[in-house]
Amino acid sequence: MNWARRDVLIGGASALTFMGGATINAAPRFLDNPFKLGVASGEPTQDGFVLWTRLAPSPFDEMSGMPLEPVAVEWQVTSDEGMSKVVAKGSAIADPTMGHSVHVGVSGLEPHRHYWYQFRAGGEISPKGRTRTLPAAGAPLDVARIGVVSCQKYEHGYFTGFQHLSREDIDLVVHLGDYIYEKKGKFNQPRTHHGGTCYTLEEYRARYAQYKMDADLQAAHAAHPWAVSFDDHEVANDYAGADEGNGDPADEMTGRRIAAYQAYYENMPLRPATKPNGPHIQLFRRLHFGNLLAINMLDTRQYRTVQPCYAGKKVERCDEVFDQKAAMLGMAQEKWLYDGLGVSSARWNAIAQQVIVVPRQLAENRYSMDKWDGYEMPRRRLIGALEERRVSNPIILSGDNHRHYVAELKSKPEDQETPVIATEYIGGSIASRGDGSEMTNYGRRVLKLNPHFKYFCDQRGYLVCTITPTQWRTDYRVMIYVERPGAPVETRVSFATQDGRPGATKV
Ligand SMILES: [Fe+2]
Repeated sequence: MNWARRDVLIGGASALTFMGGATINAAPRFLDNPFKLGVASGEPTQDGFVLWTRLAPSPFDEMSGMPLEPVAVEWQVTSDEGMSKVVAKGSAIADPTMGHSVHVGVSGLEPHRHYWYQFRAGGEISPKGRTRTLPAAGAPLDVARIGVVSCQKYEHGYFTGFQHLSREDIDLVVHLGDYIYEKKGKFNQPRTHHGGTCYTLEEYRARYAQYKMDADLQAAHAAHPWAVSFDDHEVANDYAGADEGNGDPADEMTGRRIAAYQAYYENMPLRPATKPNGPHIQLFRRLHFGNLLAINMLDTRQYRTVQPCYAGKKVERCDEVFDQKAAMLGMAQEKWLYDGLGVSSARWNAIAQQVIVVPRQLAENRYSMDKWDGYEMPRRRLIGALEERRVSNPIILSGDNHRHYVAELKSKPEDQETPVIATEYIGGSIASRGDGSEMTNYGRRVLKLNPHFKYFCDQRGYLVCTITPTQWRTDYRVMIYVERPGAPVETRVSFATQDGRPGATKV
């Protein structure tokens, strides 16, 4: 049934009393369109997904222009683009304590097909979104296609890449983090951050609102389901776990993490069960595409120990790099990852995470301590798990670096003579670093010092991966400018990994 504006809601009742005595406003009136932040879907399974929106008629004002009361939001899912064949519907509560965000878990649908969805609150109807269930678990599957994105510094450029991504024929968007950047607005940039550096919940909410109002980003959310994980800038540059925070909510960094994690949850199509508990949010999880592909979504930020060797950007590796107690994933996530990889029956096992895993000398014996280069023992344990458990076709997907690379992870990472055990596809940014150029002195140096790197490009874009039983192909989708809108996208290069043969070859 098509929704008409200003239909009478929920049997004409204007207020409902729910369990616990809270009064829900079932017929709210808004001074302006409450759906300015768009709609999204995520966390697809074989029979459902999560639907998301956040009501914000005046996104930069206090409470985003919403009243301090819970509001009823109706939703419906249809099997047709015309929104006439309703297959699921219901009503959710947008609560002021959660920024009037809505996270609806929908289940009981058919595998491997598109669905369309829409929200309604008061007389206002949201834009329409399209989403897709995953193929039946364990079933044979000929092909899966995923987009991989990261790093969308609003100030550095337009989100043209998301407009292109919205038109790709893909099953899922994987976002590897740096969805927002936390710093205050600067002058002389292609676009300007609204407000100061984010510390409080209100400040992080407003920053998400600014990003979410971007039409290109909204188009990519409305076209595909997403699976997201964060990196550092959703909280603060290069933060490490509870670094500077001691778990006490009164502590400045802990308070900042509590605010930032809540704002992240409020603005992402995550499951209601993912709602953070203070400075804790459980993001590591697994998505299954039939018998073809498992995607392990990791969190390399929340559980890591502080970067070693004074955390320099470009330093010699000191003894701390080899500390047995150093953590990149933390014990619980490591166990979950290695156990899952050990029993996986998927042909391809993707490890979707943030920072570069392979060694990368930036100058002779100089490394960045924020990457796995600063965490040698966790890296050795990861490699050991891939080898000992004979993991089928491990593919590492990384973000963070803002440049496109292809690299091969060796059994002993710094020893070029040892066998390749995994392939790492590193996606460039959507906007961070601005226009850039195809090759730079930095790129030439990285390729020269690190023979296991096969490709470099310092222009913006994203990856499209096409996975079949015999091959994983990664297309590097690149734009030649982002500092003004309208750039076309091209497949600059494609690399492929063949089934049973780790490593990447240009195709
Ligand atoms: Fe970034």
